[in-house]
Amino acid sequence: MIDKAEKVVIMITGTILALFVFSILYAKTKYKSDIPECLPYDKAYTEPKVNKIDEKTYQVFAVAQMWTFQPAEIYIPVGSEVDFFLTSKDVVHGFNIAQKNINMMAIYGTINKTTVRFDKPGVYDIVCHEYCGAGHQNMRAQVIVNYPKAK
Ligand code: CUA
Repeated sequence: MIDKAEKVVIMITGTILALFVFSILYAKTKYKSDIPECLPYDKAYTEPKVNKIDEKTYQVFAVAQMWTFQPAEIYIPVGSEVDFFLTSKDVVHGFNIAQKNINMMAIYGTINKTTVRFDKPGVYDIVCHEYCGAGHQNMRAQVIVNYPKAK
């Protein structure tokens, strides 16, 4: 037997949940935001690196650690598509590229992944937006888009 009040609460909860799911799917379609994926932890990924797949395709293996991101500067040409892989060597850190609507968490023992296209030249700031200790406010990196023109 479910109490009437309980039924009401279940209905409200269900409606709010449906709204959340709807807004995620709406944002994915409307703003073309990529929903980050969680990958199984790969022991091979311990060092930060940038892999160039071809002229317009890159992989960034980013490592967050109190209180830096490595690589700290990522140089790519305009129009590049970048797969960001992200992990942490210690506590939970944030990974936010505000201009690109990217919001990921760097978690020890876990890899998160998202794909971003950089169609405009410029400097894109990556900031840690999860409080991670005394140096949190200094934890940042940059994606620098345009370097073939700068040569
Ligand atoms: Cu890392 Cu805040």
